Amino acid sequence: MHKYAPLAQPVCVSGEPGRIIPAMQGNRILLGVTGGIAAYKSAELVRRLRERGAQVQVVMTAAAREFVGALTFQALSGRPVRTDLWDSAAEAAMGHIELARWAEAVLVAPATADFLARLAEGRADDLLTTLCLATAAPIAVAPAMNRLMWANAATVANVERLRQRGVRVFGPAEGAQACGEVGEGRMLEPPELADQLAVLLPAAGPLHGRRVLITAGPTRERIDPVRFISNRSSGKMGFAVAQAAREAGAQVVLVSGPVSLPTPPGVRRVDVESAEAMLTAVQNEVAAADIFISTAAVADYRPAHPSGQKIKKTSERLQLEMERTTDVLASVAARADRPFVVGFAAETESVEQNARAKLLKKNLDMIAANEVSHSKGFDCEDNHLIVLWRNARQDLGAGPKLALARELIRLIGESYAAAGKARPRDTVQA
Ligand code: CTP
Repeated sequence: MHKYAPLAQPVCVSGEPGRIIPAMQGNRILLGVTGGIAAYKSAELVRRLRERGAQVQVVMTAAAREFVGALTFQALSGRPVRTDLWDSAAEAAMGHIELARWAEAVLVAPATADFLARLAEGRADDLLTTLCLATAAPIAVAPAMNRLMWANAATVANVERLRQRGVRVFGPAEGAQACGEVGEGRMLEPPELADQLAVLLPAAGPLHGRRVLITAGPTRERIDPVRFISNRSSGKMGFAVAQAAREAGAQVVLVSGPVSLPTPPGVRRVDVESAEAMLTAVQNEVAAADIFISTAAVADYRPAHPSGQKIKKTSERLQLEMERTTDVLASVAARADRPFVVGFAAETESVEQNARAKLLKKNLDMIAANEVSHSKGFDCEDNHLIVLWRNARQDLGAGPKLALARELIRLIGESYAAAGKARPRDTVQA
């Protein structure tokens, strides 16, 4: 049986009287440094993070090395600095995918306009962008640039795109700039960055060190360029589950259909539209997951022949031929290297009986059943969950979705531990 690795997350008092800062004892932070004049401040940032007990692995871009030498960061972090995707010696010690998994949080400080653009584009053209794509850890950026570059529409759009994906943006501050101008674009000071980063780090909790993949919200299936078929799911239950999993210390990836909800702090979000896109996103993420929780109301059918042009009202009747989508949950449960798999069942009748049938048919470890109707379950604040295992049941009763999500996550943590699903990579440590 697997036992969770306990992790103390004490608080300590900093030099400033009365100021409490969360300690980062043992937390693994990947610090990306890109090519801006503020790079010299990142040397102090390494010190502040290490003071709090964090392990810091610095990754520098080529441009960053024009500003500060790698040796400075090596001396301060106590680890060789990584600079190159093609460095075979460094890759042999810890490959970039392993490094991406090692990180519990990624902070890029300073983040230049160019880096933000590359990150927003999803490029993998150097080690740092590749790591950002390959990590399940939360990513934060601390922009630093000239005020006009920061205000430029291209940068504004890139930052918005990144925020949408759950990337945290720390700062920038206003003030005097290295270029002699005054305005918004200064990197936040290292103690402030360390404080903000602390919030993103996994808290001590029953799911500390676990990776949880969650689907949420509805999907949209295209009929023509302006119409789609969808359902009334708001995504609230799934987002509450993501928040609860994060609070329990997990690294959380949330694959979400179209919803209008903010991303819970510290959660990495991947937005999708269709059932097919949700399947692809889940397939991309699932190999790294210990636990998969499928709360999404995925369309079961989609138009078999979506029209390339807007359909005109030329006839009295319109028949749409529909075809089945892939069952995302069942496909995850069927994998040879499956994570611990938790489904949801949205039922309008015979709730428990139908949910139990799904648990068995889809070969799940657990299922949470809820009744959905016009006034219940979908698109409202409260819910009523009954949790089923093969040989057990527990009625969580009715209540706010976040309270139920926390209770559900507690049960998932216990069942996961009992199932002994510890995986070899859990032992990856510095
Ligand atoms: N699910 C999925 N992919 C689908 C359909 C459903 O991953 N294409 C998942 C849901 O996220 C949920 C579970 O399967 O965790 C059950 O979904 P539900 O809509 O209740 O049932 P279905 O399996 O779609 O069956 P039915 O619509 O016949 O009740």
